Amino acid sequence: MSGLFITMEGLDGSGKTTQLEILKQNLEAKGFNVLLVREPGGSKISEKIRNIILDIENKEMHYMTEALLYSASRAQLVHEVIMPSLKQGKIVLCDRFVDSSLVYQGVARGLGIDIIKKINNIATEGLTPDITFFLDIEPKFALERKKQQKKLDRIESEKLDFYNMVYKGYKTILKSDGGRIIRIDANKDLEDIQNEILTNIENLFC
Ligand SMILES: Nc1ncnc2c1ncn2[C@@H]1O[C@H](COP(=O)(O)OP(=O)(O)O)[C@@H](O)[C@H]1O
Ligand SMILES: [Mg+2]
Repeated sequence: MSGLFITMEGLDGSGKTTQLEILKQNLEAKGFNVLLVREPGGSKISEKIRNIILDIENKEMHYMTEALLYSASRAQLVHEVIMPSLKQGKIVLCDRFVDSSLVYQGVARGLGIDIIKKINNIATEGLTPDITFFLDIEPKFALERKKQQKKLDRIESEKLDFYNMVYKGYKTILKSDGGRIIRIDANKDLEDIQNEILTNIENLFC
């Protein structure tokens, strides 16, 4: 496989989408052919599965159903879009990937990291990013950014508990990672974060 597969991870509000959009422009300016996709989604069928996952009326959805739908959406994205693009030599930027499932479904939903790993290995045929950036920001600051409000109400405080669990999950997978995941301080300015990301990508080519 000749392309480069880069994924961005972190809490909602950590700045993933912002950084990926700038990164796409920067890499294109250097002459690379870049594809940016989001998860869940990124293909027609994957977007349909996304709608089922995110549908507010699907309150009775079992956590395992949720985990399998995420991996089904990912299987379609990997086989229809990511693998063919990598074969064409493109740089594929993905807004969340398997690590998000390990953390959200495995840790925060309590299904266990190992079982989520197994499901996703089947779904992706073991496709692993060349490099992953974890935008590290304290849950309360991420939530503040996303909501853009100073004081949290009752519902949002509950949400903070969930954010805390997700954050703990990211820290857990970072510990057992073999160096693929690069932790970036997401409290910094947009430009500083982007420069750190670019430096790490340039090092991949050395
Ligand atoms: N480094 C940063 N410093 C301050 N605000 C930021 C930074 N990065 C992103 N933001 C802002 O935080 C909010 C969430 O960013 P976004 O890129 O949508 O995060 P995510 O995709 O991880 O949910 C946006 O309003 C964005 O402008
Ligand atoms: Mg986003």
